[in-house]
Amino acid sequence: MHATAIAPANIALVKYWGKRDRALNLPAAGSISVTLGGLETRTSLRFDDDLEEDRVTLNGAMDAGTTVRVRRFLQFVRERFDVAFHAHVETENSFPTGAGLASSASGFAALALAVDKALGLDLPPAALSALARHGSGSAARSLVDGFAEMHPGTREDGEDAYATQLAAPDALPLSVVAAITTTAPKTMSSSEGMEHCRKTSPYHAAWIGQVAIDLEAMRTAIAAADLGAVGEIAEHNAMCMHADMLAARPPVRYWNAGTVTVLDHVAELRTSGTDAWCTIDAGPQVKVL
Ligand code: PMV
Repeated sequence: MHATAIAPANIALVKYWGKRDRALNLPAAGSISVTLGGLETRTSLRFDDDLEEDRVTLNGAMDAGTTVRVRRFLQFVRERFDVAFHAHVETENSFPTGAGLASSASGFAALALAVDKALGLDLPPAALSALARHGSGSAARSLVDGFAEMHPGTREDGEDAYATQLAAPDALPLSVVAAITTTAPKTMSSSEGMEHCRKTSPYHAAWIGQVAIDLEAMRTAIAAADLGAVGEIAEHNAMCMHADMLAARPPVRYWNAGTVTVLDHVAELRTSGTDAWCTIDAGPQVKVL
């Protein structure tokens, strides 16, 4: 009834931003990511029949937001797998939490793995990915090595919404540099931001339409190992997602002045002949491909 697991973060090259079902945490569209070495979460889990509620620490301290999300996930686990106990969860990130460096992706991937091990479930990869998705949509992709594609699925129960491998880690000579512009936690969670955009942004439907086009182009670019095309599509896709956010009412603006400075530098690098492209998640950090 106890286990420790480690999972890496990932960066989306075609982003997930919008849900088709909030309760089951189902994405409205697919997404493509690459799993990142060097940014990871290590989680220890112990089910304990003496506990009356789940105890959660993040980097050695209590964190209210993390505790709420982990408890919701563990409640789902108890119902799904018929477990009577609450759990101690200790989780450590090797990078800043909650500031757009995909801590929920590595976090819920590690937690899903730890649940699988602690309960001896031995779930097949698709079911494990779908389990992680209940915690965080992007976590479903962190259980795949290399390039991952998340399938939105069509089933009402969402069990066909999971990630599979699109290409091996060495399919492209790609490195990712994360430029940290602030270590402050972000102002709005991804889930809240997505829902706000769905309800108020006049560009949201256009964004979901763009994802279908970018998924097709990105699959082709990765299969051809065409780094230039991968970078160009990824940067354009990230800008389209942020356009959807900026068009919401009131706007969802995760960027700060440092974010724009990094975008400027990367544009200059490209003008001077260096292959580099930007992508930005729901936070102010810039990942440079
Ligand atoms: O996994 P969530 O619910 O934190 O959503 C992730 C959203 C983005 O990071 C902005 C995009 C993505 O595909 O990872």
